[in-house]
Amino acid sequence: MTDGSPLQSYQVEPHLFVVLGGTGDLARRKLVPALRRLASLGVLGSRRAILAVARDADLDDLGFREWVREALRESGAPEEEIDRLGDARLFYEGLPKGDRGDYARLARRVREIEQQCELPGNRVFYMALPPRVFPEVVEGLAETDLNEGPGWTRLVVEKPFGRDLESARRLNETIHRHFDESQVYRIDHYLGKETVQNLLVFRFANALFESQWNRERIEEVQITVSEDLGIGSRAGYYDGSGALRDMIQNHMAQLLSLVGMEVPGRFDAESVRQEKIKLLRSVSPIEGENVVRARYTGGEVDGRQVPGYMDEPGVDPRSTTETYVALALGIDNWRWQGVPFYLRTGKRLDRRLTQIAVRFREPPVCMFESMGACETHSNVLLLTLQPDEGFALVVDVKVPGEPFELRRIPLDFFYKQAFEGIPDAYQTLLLDVLTGDQTLFVHAEEAEASWDLFGPLLDPDSTPQKYTPGSWGPVEADALLGRRGHRWLDPVDHPDLGEDS
Ligand code: NDP
Ligand code: BG6
Repeated sequence: MTDGSPLQSYQVEPHLFVVLGGTGDLARRKLVPALRRLASLGVLGSRRAILAVARDADLDDLGFREWVREALRESGAPEEEIDRLGDARLFYEGLPKGDRGDYARLARRVREIEQQCELPGNRVFYMALPPRVFPEVVEGLAETDLNEGPGWTRLVVEKPFGRDLESARRLNETIHRHFDESQVYRIDHYLGKETVQNLLVFRFANALFESQWNRERIEEVQITVSEDLGIGSRAGYYDGSGALRDMIQNHMAQLLSLVGMEVPGRFDAESVRQEKIKLLRSVSPIEGENVVRARYTGGEVDGRQVPGYMDEPGVDPRSTTETYVALALGIDNWRWQGVPFYLRTGKRLDRRLTQIAVRFREPPVCMFESMGACETHSNVLLLTLQPDEGFALVVDVKVPGEPFELRRIPLDFFYKQAFEGIPDAYQTLLLDVLTGDQTLFVHAEEAEASWDLFGPLLDPDSTPQKYTPGSWGPVEADALLGRRGHRWLDPVDHPDLGEDS
């Protein structure tokens, strides 16, 4: 979509949007700005209200309205849009104890607001909460019958979804005791990114690529999600998580599924999600020797001294948490058998980049040997999901004139050249919640299949390897590919992919 106007065709029914944890960082930086943008685009209609819930008993509606204005100013919303959500539709309720009495008060407040704003009882409950309280909040909602309202009721669950297979199963059980799966929207914000959705279009709307998308044509697939920043002030969360839980089990599992899955029968939630689950279940168990865990040391980056992971504020001196993971996996099905998929992610790396590199097989013979140009090259497709969204297909061309020489050049496309702007992932996902489209949300079985695959790689007892800040990761990750005769492709926008690729 080139601007906001096509969104006007969306029909959002009158509703109450309850943000549990409505005064937190996620609400401030993502949810409130995304709801404001949707309101500005005119898709939310006028019969709507937002109710923020947190423990703070001193905050009230007026205080929350001021908080929303500040959040919107911080988000860079134009001044004339700051009041767009409408003071008369913004409410706050404090649940200091989280006991039955608190939830009974919440239920009353929900009904009062619905009466006051003439809403029919359609409700979203968005859990923007510390994950440890997800189960008790689900129980609290159910105890006061907030799981089934007079209209539709949808439950949005933020990441992380469990800490391992066991806890993910328990959380699913708790949720399913009170909510039907069709009411549940598990968020993975990568699925809301336009470029991630475009993977499906790229594959399934372009017969040219889909016909090549298999073991006959593809030599290897590399998926990189690198970040240049360290963990900053997030040790409280990150030190108990690490790269495997924070990125691989969710965001990277989604990228892997979208690249590898079979063609769904239809483009609807059920069909797409079932294909992703099938893909995850087709991955062979990943052996320990195919996994590299590491964490960044201190050092100089761009002339600035940065601390190592163990010196970041709040990190446990006994921590074994990794900030980098690279792994090699294989998919045991007809399409992919024998094609290695390499995944890597890390903090404090060379740059921020999310990229999928698909390297095709080399030509079977070198036609141009007699002309002195006997290097064989493979074509590479680079799908860059961020920050310079677009793709490049790297091909060989003849350099004009003599001697006879080949050069690799990228045929490329950048979103910013063709389109005016890319909507934020949360804007897309919130609109889908409000219109009841689950396609871009994670199914219960999908979350469990991903833990089943990646959970066994959690390794709290071993100390991770080291890598230099600003690098592309530890040498062990190079060796992981080297053993198979491969190397990490240079992840740059205009690639000089070197001799062997
Ligand atoms: P914060 O700690 O900033 O906010 C948590 C919110 O929950 C606050 O409003 C807090 O207010 C409220 N809260 C805490 N405990 C309870 C409770 N027992 N009952 C009711 N309300 C409670 O966390 P974030 O906003 O950063 O994260 C929220 C969720 O979003 C997490 O699951 C996180 O993993 C996920 N997430 C966050 C991202 C981000 O960028 N921040 C990105 C992706 C996911 P009070 O203390 O007054 O109760
Ligand atoms: C979050 C992780 O889910 O995704 C963060 O908790 C990570 O650690 C972030 O930085 C990356 O998201 P994005 O959209 O910046 O690629």
